[in-house]
Amino acid sequence: MRERIKQLKDIAEKFKPENLASIEDFRISFLGKKGHIAALFSDFKSVPPDQKKSIGLEINELKNYVADKINSLKDTFSQSKTSEFIPDLTVPGKSFVAGSRHPISIVRNQIIDIFSRIGYNISTGPEIEDDWHVFSALNFPPEHPARDMQDTFFIERDPDVLLRTHTSSVQVRVMTNNEPPIRTISPGRVFRNEAISARAHCIFHQIEGLYINTDVSFADLKQNLMYFAKEMFGSETRIRLRPSFFPFTEPSAEMDISCKICGGKGCNVCKYTGWLEILGCGMVDPNVLSYSGISPEKYTGFAFGMGIERIAMLKYQVKDLRLYFENDVRFLEQFSAAF
Ligand code: DAH
Repeated sequence: MRERIKQLKDIAEKFKPENLASIEDFRISFLGKKGHIAALFSDFKSVPPDQKKSIGLEINELKNYVADKINSLKDTFSQSKTSEFIPDLTVPGKSFVAGSRHPISIVRNQIIDIFSRIGYNISTGPEIEDDWHVFSALNFPPEHPARDMQDTFFIERDPDVLLRTHTSSVQVRVMTNNEPPIRTISPGRVFRNEAISARAHCIFHQIEGLYINTDVSFADLKQNLMYFAKEMFGSETRIRLRPSFFPFTEPSAEMDISCKICGGKGCNVCKYTGWLEILGCGMVDPNVLSYSGISPEKYTGFAFGMGIERIAMLKYQVKDLRLYFENDVRFLEQFSAAF
């Protein structure tokens, strides 16, 4: 018995593992149910009583030796495994490229924010529209050129289904579904049958504004637009309103802001006029109110509409419209500092 214990101790001492699996095999061969230690304990019954104490001690010593050896082998093995994967903490970190909002979204959000602060809510409408909401209810005469295939994308004719050419169509929907007072802005995509160039695109974005209440005057319109211009382009910005024509407003005007670049002195951005055109506006035509079920006797209102690309071009001095649609990351990543 003593001899076997000695042999086994010898084997245990010489054991050199190749991997974690061989340590497990070693453990099973010694400490498993049918292992050497179990076999020694079962033979222990036949050991003469006077030797039981010392042989029992030796078996226990062997058992403890093997258990300790297994534990320390496992430790060194698993440590050396993970140490291969401990990164070098002095290596400079990988930098993550932060995404950025599209400049059109940035400008749209800014315009929405400016008008929300004076009580405008947001409304939207469908991009695929009918003749009523895009033209007829906005007082376009039947022979108006915008109703022509050359300017408008038609999906079906008679009855007409078309892509809206302006967000003024949302005015009609809001007025039809709500009682005044109405104070809303309607951002969205619009479509026109134009050849694509640096200055024109077949898809672009507009924001429409509408205020309907009792006693709304042209002075209110001017005040709202002046507030917008100063918030958007800086407090030193001046505005001017030039008479214009739109079928859905009477009187109508176009608004210019003093050129941001030269401060009104004249430069190539403002074509030496000192002024930049940014939107169309006017008092809502009484016909338009009554087409949408609002009494022109009781209510008056104003409306305005602007192109978001136009505002973005002035803000960022990017004069080729196509850049806003190509999604070239080299262009887009330049806006990552904006909100
Ligand atoms: N809908 C016009 C356009 O697309 C812009 C516009 C002008 C909207 C005057 C208005 C307005 O609400 O009053 O060119």
